[in-house]
Amino acid sequence: MVNSFINELTITGNIFDPFAGSGTTLLASRTNGIGSFGIDVNPISVMVAKVENERYNIEDLKIFEKEIENIKNLVKSLKEYQTPFELADKVFNQEILQSLLQFKHHIKKIENQKVRNLHLVAWLSIIENVSNIKKEGNGIKYKNRKRTPMGYINIDKETWERQNFPIDKFGFVRNNLLRKLIVILTDLKFNYGECEKEPKIFNGSCLEFDRFFTDEIELTFFSPPYCNCFDYFEIHKVDLWLGDFVTDKKGFRKLRNTGFRSNTNSLNHKLIIYKNGYLERLISLFNPTKLWNNKIPNVVRGYFDDMYKLLSKIFQQTVKKGFVCIVVGNSAYSGVIIPTDVLIAEIAKEIGFSVKSIFVTRHLTTSSQQKQELEYLKDYLRESIVVLEK
Ligand SMILES: C[S@@+](CC[C@H](N)C(=O)[O-])C[C@H]1O[C@@H](n2cnc3c(N)ncnc32)[C@H](O)[C@@H]1O
Repeated sequence: MVNSFINELTITGNIFDPFAGSGTTLLASRTNGIGSFGIDVNPISVMVAKVENERYNIEDLKIFEKEIENIKNLVKSLKEYQTPFELADKVFNQEILQSLLQFKHHIKKIENQKVRNLHLVAWLSIIENVSNIKKEGNGIKYKNRKRTPMGYINIDKETWERQNFPIDKFGFVRNNLLRKLIVILTDLKFNYGECEKEPKIFNGSCLEFDRFFTDEIELTFFSPPYCNCFDYFEIHKVDLWLGDFVTDKKGFRKLRNTGFRSNTNSLNHKLIIYKNGYLERLISLFNPTKLWNNKIPNVVRGYFDDMYKLLSKIFQQTVKKGFVCIVVGNSAYSGVIIPTDVLIAEIAKEIGFSVKSIFVTRHLTTSSQQKQELEYLKDYLRESIVVLEK
């Protein structure tokens, strides 16, 4: 998708992704030989995007292969490894946790930084598989809690672990890790790493992107968090703690507060400066008794306040006739649709952009309670690409 926009809009100048995630826009820019900048507030995303967009040579691949052999030969240690993550004993089987920590400890000592990071990404990507939790919907669910027609039942942790993990836990973790490492190695052997223009990737809030670079931008291509209360930090909580990206609760809260105001946990004491009449009319239609959290009106206000600030800064740095493409989904609260795509287009017009189009890419579904209420507006429950031109 990014490729087709780059070609269609004949982009040759810098490309920017303020919500870079795992770096799709940057990868597309790079394979087109175009310079790019990316920012993400989540240090895990930044690490993945950097590893994905790194330049690897034959020598790095040889070291990578040698280090994979070292993983194969690592012997289970008797040492007890520590983690500051309070929920670790609940989220993991004890032996699996110790094995994971031992592999991390080993990986962190790999000298070659690129090879170390490749291993760390592989290690991060097995955590969910070897744990007692899964990422589902808007959060983390315990795998031993099962939904039945009679409601939820909890299978006792030990019983569930006995039924789901093999006796050799260290071997189980190692095999998971090796499988990922081999996938990465296979990808790299396809010359994935060759590139002329290396993307520049920063860890921080996109609302302050001008602190990281001041170059002109020709295309900004992004998918922001949607205004649907999804919390990227909650979903990555286990990975952030276990991977040492956060080491105390204060650090975790701080990280959450720098996120876009798209969920009830991201609200900080930031003022809401931007006012929009359409938005206030929609918010006034909310039925407070049907909202699952009373912070929702301010999540919605905060979201568009952040969006206004971001688009204003992008406008400043965009070349004349440059473009912005935004992939975004609408949402609904207490039977009221928030048409984020249309509202973003309105905000962009206020800032000075012209709206080229709003492509509808697919229709979304909502909870069954809201479905009936929204029947007559269901066409607005959608994911779209808003295309703006300066
Ligand atoms: C829909 S995802 C983007 C996915 C991305 N296009 C990719 O290819 O992986 C939204 C991203 O916004 C990031 N994010 C949330 N608040 C942010 C902020 N204030 N500044 C920068 N990134 C932020 C999240 O960490 C998440 O990675």
